[in-house]
Amino acid sequence: MSCTVIIGSQWGDEGKAKMVDYFSRDADVVVRYQGGANAGHTVVVNGKKYIFHLVPSGILHENKMCVIGNGLALDPLQLLEELDKLELEGLDVKKRLLISDSVHLILPYHKVLDEAMEELRDNKLGTTHRGIGPCYADKCLRIGVRAGDIFDADSLKERVEFLLKLKNLQLERVFGKKPFAMKEIMDIISLFKERAGKMITNTSDYLHASVKSGKKLLLEGAQGYGLDIDHGTYPFVTSSNPTIGGALLGSGLNSFNVSSVVGIVKAYVTRVGEGPFPTEDTGNDGDRLRVNGKEFGSTTGRPRRCGWFDIELLKHSCLINGFTTLALTKLDVLTGFKKIKVAVRYEHNGKDAGYSQSSLDSVEPVYEELNGWDENLSKVKTYDTLPSQAKDYIRFLEKNIGAKISTVSVGPERENTFLL
Ligand code: IMP
Repeated sequence: MSCTVIIGSQWGDEGKAKMVDYFSRDADVVVRYQGGANAGHTVVVNGKKYIFHLVPSGILHENKMCVIGNGLALDPLQLLEELDKLELEGLDVKKRLLISDSVHLILPYHKVLDEAMEELRDNKLGTTHRGIGPCYADKCLRIGVRAGDIFDADSLKERVEFLLKLKNLQLERVFGKKPFAMKEIMDIISLFKERAGKMITNTSDYLHASVKSGKKLLLEGAQGYGLDIDHGTYPFVTSSNPTIGGALLGSGLNSFNVSSVVGIVKAYVTRVGEGPFPTEDTGNDGDRLRVNGKEFGSTTGRPRRCGWFDIELLKHSCLINGFTTLALTKLDVLTGFKKIKVAVRYEHNGKDAGYSQSSLDSVEPVYEELNGWDENLSKVKTYDTLPSQAKDYIRFLEKNIGAKISTVSVGPERENTFLL
């Protein structure tokens, strides 16, 4: 039995897609389990950059099956756009992608409502405006449209008529926005059915059959622990569960199927959007991390907030996710810093403060400083050839987090990765 789950351990953008691409070499099936086009997963192969929002990052390995699980919020037009781009690259995607019949569809009113809600709020969340929150809200209200619903024309029509009554009332009366016409929504659904209908199936059955026949599965998370709607810094979170529970719910697999859980850990911390970030550096060091690490959102282009490694955040991420091992990414970005800071604990009013997501904006991180290095790491292929200060940094993180780092990435390409 082999099923590896890849999870972002901080606030997203840890470099998951690159690691998914790396671990996909050993997998037969790659599965996305939550989130939607709010994610921007970047993979670089032979100098060419690919950004995926919905299609699993494993798609670049030609012989792998890819699955969009029931836990996503799926924007049909975005998916078709991604499929077009991949086909232009010569990748035969249609035979290798399955879509859960239970996945909820993002329709245009979700995106308008997402933006309108943000406009209205004083205390903005900084969402990606991709309609994620409104789509998951409809799922919980039991009024969403699922991929499998598009095959029953009569009940679909009835459902969309009801939805438009509701959404148009809200759009016009609450937000003063233009209403949507039935035709506009049905045209999108028809296009989706025509182009992707054959890919829609019961994917949890497919995954269990795959497990039974000895196939290797890789589950690809989006966002990260700190953005989890239950365990993150609520309300500054996304509307799904990027953590281990979400991997099971969003794929239909069970806990006995999982053989390893890999936490993707960036060598420093970033956050995009609003919300507490104890180790944020708003000065020169933060700017330097942003420039060196090209820390600009791949979905929205927004500059990411940057700061130092946070041990407390990681320890709690380990507790919630039960990582069996960690993969450290973007170590090369720290090259050139004379001193590298690591927050080892928090204080509040001069006293030790434990970790609580609800009080993160009032804690003071307590830092230790480690010596940096000047060597360019882009050609490093083994742990032994790392500068001694970089080795010390890795060992310091492992000791303080209390978990093993088994993989290190020192650049965007597949070959910039090695095992410890
Ligand atoms: P939403 O997921 O668009 O509703 O946005 C909610 C919060 O999650 C905002 O702070 C976003 O910036 C953040 N967020 C959503 N997706 C990602 C991601 O893939 N990486 C990092 N932050 C994200």
